Amino acid sequence: MIFSSFKIDKDTPIYEQIEKYIMIQINDGMLQKGSKLPSTREVSSVLKVSRNSVVTAYENLESRGIIQSVKGKGTFVIESQQQTDNDFVLKWDERFNEYGRKCNELDIMKTEVPWKKGMISFKSIAPEEKLFDLDEIKRDFQTICANEGSKILNYGYAKGYKPLIDYLLKYMEKKGVIIQNKDILITNGFTESFDMIISVLTDKGDVVLCESPTHNTAIKIMKARGVHIVDIPMQYDGIDVEKLEKAIIEYNPKMLYIIPSYHNPTGIVMKGEKRQKVYNLCKKHNIPIVEDGFNEELLYSSSHMPPIMSLSGLGNGVVYLGSLSKILFPGLRVGWILADKKLISMLESVKRSRTIHCSTLDQALLCEYLNNGSFEKYVKKVRKYYREKYEFAIREIKNNLQYKYIYGEGGLHVFIDLGDIDARKLLKCCYENNVIFMPGDIFFPGSGGSTCMRLGFARLSNEDIKKGIKIIGQSEKEIRKQV
Ligand SMILES: Cc1ncc(COP(=O)(O)O)c(C=O)c1O
Repeated sequence: MIFSSFKIDKDTPIYEQIEKYIMIQINDGMLQKGSKLPSTREVSSVLKVSRNSVVTAYENLESRGIIQSVKGKGTFVIESQQQTDNDFVLKWDERFNEYGRKCNELDIMKTEVPWKKGMISFKSIAPEEKLFDLDEIKRDFQTICANEGSKILNYGYAKGYKPLIDYLLKYMEKKGVIIQNKDILITNGFTESFDMIISVLTDKGDVVLCESPTHNTAIKIMKARGVHIVDIPMQYDGIDVEKLEKAIIEYNPKMLYIIPSYHNPTGIVMKGEKRQKVYNLCKKHNIPIVEDGFNEELLYSSSHMPPIMSLSGLGNGVVYLGSLSKILFPGLRVGWILADKKLISMLESVKRSRTIHCSTLDQALLCEYLNNGSFEKYVKKVRKYYREKYEFAIREIKNNLQYKYIYGEGGLHVFIDLGDIDARKLLKCCYENNVIFMPGDIFFPGSGGSTCMRLGFARLSNEDIKKGIKIIGQSEKEIRKQV
């Protein structure tokens, strides 16, 4: 009971004392925003004071906007601690460094229109969690606890959980990569892998080449670390190789960052011939290729493309960033970097100095799931599920939207160029009708993409896909009428 230390002072009106007491509790942090106050009846009975005094105190605090009574629920604190002259107060926003400011400024979760309850959102490209087999995960958890014992909860190794590294080395071998002289570092997903690569291989102002459009998180990481991004336009089958060569010659970049399979946001799968050309070019000019291998497993129709790394044989010019995030358990935050042993050894020290290592429990859980055959079964199931959704979304887009081009061959999203309609204008109109999507411009490191949009569909029911795309189509028609 918050009034346990309340002492009555005979010379001051009771209601004033109660008011003051509650204010002190709020200022001391004992009562937080949202805390429920005892009822006036309870307070009057505990303090042995008239109920009217308590009611007056509560009413006064309510009129000052400090508490609020909600009919049938009670009275709640709505104001948090008040500042006093005694408090140690700093202006934090004046103390952020450039890195912090840039991360904040580039955070699309804060800058783009938010999802509200009841909206149909095409923003996300996260996998559908209903497909995750939670019972299997529970069994795997029991297995690792039985096999590993309590040491699984102790410190592990910076490089990662050995059985997972061994699994992933074999997994990459099956993809055609020669693993001799290469090694793996386990990371917290692509996002950490790429941040590590950029922070150890570039200095402020260095040039990195990438596709345009590209993964928004990669743009954010590069900009936040002060990298000079030179973006190379994409053609309908992937990066423009001629422009890539020109940029390599002009800028002598530190690396090329590329997403060859089910590219985000376009969904393009770069064909073998183009992969070879990109590889040959970078090899000729000694430019490391940082290959983002996410989504390779999401094969729908075309035959599987070996990663660019598989072209390098015993060479070490390609760094492969692996992630299963779009397929399986992105919440575990487990990804990997496959690269030359010397590079991995250095990254291992960086990992140790940053976070020591990724959660061993999470790595072991993923490892058990991968090793016991669950993964193969699951991938077959999700491929079919997502392919059907993808085909359904494409049909609805073709039936409802007027567009210039639909990109790509799969993934968990569709990238559309509307041709002559401003996607942000369309988004504003759709937002009013409870539908949101990703405007294309956020994927372009420079300017561009103003007529493009990305529709993520993995977590939407067919009913919502149909309804949402219909609304987008109607909004588009409205805008076309105005121009
Ligand atoms: C191009 C690309 N690479 C990698 C990832 C996976 O990132 P992470 O492993 O950090 O979840 C994503 C997720 O959206 C992506 O779009």
